[in-house]
This record gives sequence, structure tokens and C-alpha cells, in this order.
Amino acid sequence: MSTHQRNKKSKTDPNSKNLHPRNLHVQAYDFPSLIKSYPPLAPYVTTNAHNTLSVDFADSLAVKALNTALLKHHYHIANWDIPEGALCPPIPGRADYIHYIAELLGVSEPPTNVKSIKPTINLLDIGIGANGIYSLLACQIYGWQCVGSDINTHSLENVAAIIASNPTLKGDVKLRTQTDKHHIFDGIIQTGEYFDVSVCNPPFHASSDEALKSNQRKISNLSHHSNEQKSTAAKLNFGGLDAELWCKGGERLFLKKLIKESQMFSTQCRWFTSLVSKIDNVKPAKKLITKLGASDIREIEMKQGNKITRILAWTFM
Ligand SMILES: C[S@@+](CC[C@H](N)C(=O)[O-])C[C@H]1O[C@@H](n2cnc3c(N)ncnc32)[C@H](O)[C@@H]1O
Repeated sequence: MSTHQRNKKSKTDPNSKNLHPRNLHVQAYDFPSLIKSYPPLAPYVTTNAHNTLSVDFADSLAVKALNTALLKHHYHIANWDIPEGALCPPIPGRADYIHYIAELLGVSEPPTNVKSIKPTINLLDIGIGANGIYSLLACQIYGWQCVGSDINTHSLENVAAIIASNPTLKGDVKLRTQTDKHHIFDGIIQTGEYFDVSVCNPPFHASSDEALKSNQRKISNLSHHSNEQKSTAAKLNFGGLDAELWCKGGERLFLKKLIKESQMFSTQCRWFTSLVSKIDNVKPAKKLITKLGASDIREIEMKQGNKITRILAWTFM
């Protein structure tokens, strides 16, 4: 079952039981409430073979509608939308990253009235994507001030549109274009600027072809769907924004660049962090971080059902 798939009301989902304790998605998705918050979700919700409510996770429009509903219902983000083919993030997993970062920074529970506190944390979101997800969640859960960077100006325009239709965001999101795809922090962190933490979900495939094949594998794993449904899903899930999913050298090279450049900005950011999807990339990354003289390295495991991902965090301070 997809990590996104939640059903009955007020029942703990076995897939989400390992989420961070502060994560709102430890409970199963409450579809009736989600539909109330976002009525366009309704046509996508059906009763599945286990007699529980769900959506078809092979249908990217259904998954997008579920995300829009979750963001509206739990995080008060209105009109969240992404262009066709853009990366549609699983909200529980992305929220987990933010909660683990809060813990790393020693931030206690999310404030009950975020508006009443002065934001104290500055977060840099490297590769914010078209979905803006980490910054939007950090803004709405903790009231943090965020700067999001990306090389893709269409993605940044999409995030700008989401921000524009949410004038009451509890934190703040500013957007910056990385004009040189070979750079990460250079050209983004400005002179005299200071961040408490940087977050990143690197493009993980090494080529457009590899990203396409992985997408096709995912689609064919949805074994209960007809070939026609699979081919529609494949087309919808993989579109013009494929550079979100791949870069030359894949996750390993992206991490290498990120780590090397982090040393240049070692006094302007307290914790550098990145998601590492491929376990084989952890060891070389840690070795490089140690070589560059970091004073502390943490490997934070995030579990969701059978799926394990990790955040690598390091500091030079
Ligand atoms: C896997 S996506 C992550 C999107 C979003 N943060 C998420 O977690 O769903 C990676 C993003 O990194 C961006 N990217 C690639 N190279 C970059 C660079 N050198 N600097 C900033 N962003 C970059 C891509 O355009 C893409 O939006």
C-alpha cells in the first residue's frame, strides 16, 4: 500500500505509526472532513476492497486533489496546485522532515498561536520545487521564515502563485533563482545573511531516462490497474518538469556539491541538512563531511511503514 494511502476515520494507520510523534498524519486520513474542507476531492474518493475510503494512487489527479485537501484542512493553505507532471509530494513524509529539523534545532512543540510569536528560525529550502512543500509546511506549522531557491523559474512562479493566494501565511516565504545549476548556496546566501538550517530533497536520478524508467516501474507495480489506466498514469505522472527528478550524476553528485559548498558558507548556516534516498550515498557523503572539518554529523532516520529514508545533518559551528 502506498505511504499516502489512509482510510478510516480515527484509526491509527499501520503505515504511519513510525512518523514523528508531532506529525498530524499519525492518524488515518479522515476523508469526510477532507472533503468538507476541499469538496473537489469528493469524486476521487471511493470505498476500496477492504471496505475503507481511499483514492486511486495511480491517478495523479486524485493524489493532487488529496494533497490540496490535506494542505487546506490541516495547514490552512488554500489553492495549492502544481503544473501537470510536477512532483506531487507525500505530505506526511515532508512534514516529518520539518518536525525532525525542529527537534534538531531544539524547537519545542509547534506554538498554539503561531501568529503571536516573533519568528526565530530562518530556513533555507534548496530546490523548493513547484510544490513549495517544505517552506509552506515550516511556515504554517512553526511560523518560520523561509527562503526557497530553485533553478527552474516556472517552479518558482508556481510557488509565488500559491504564496499570493495565501496572504495570511503564518511565516514568510521568499523565493530566489539559482542561475547556475552547478551551484547550490553560491548566489543564494547573501553577504551578512544567516540561516539556522538548510533543507534539501535532491534530484535523485542520474538521467531523464533513469527517472522515466523508475516512474514506469512504479506504475507497473500498481498491479490491480488495467494497462490503459497504467499508461494514462505514466503520462500524467511524468511531464515537462522532469528536471525536478534528475540531474547529471544523480543524488550522489548533487550531495557532493551541496557538501562542498556548505563549507564555504560554514559561518552563515548553523545546520546543513539533506534527505538521502539511496543508502549507498550515505557513507561517501559522511566521509566528505568529516574531511571538510564538520564539528558534528547526524544521521536521522525517518520511517513510514516499510519505507526508511534519512536526513543527513552537519554543522561546522
Ligand atoms: C526532488 S525535487 C524537490 C522538490 C521539493 N523540495 C520536494 O521535496 O518535493 C529537486 C528540486 O531541486 C531543484 N534543483 C536542481 N538543481 C538545483 C540547484 N543547483 N539549486 C537549486 N535547486 C536545484 C530542481 O529544479 C527541483 O525542483
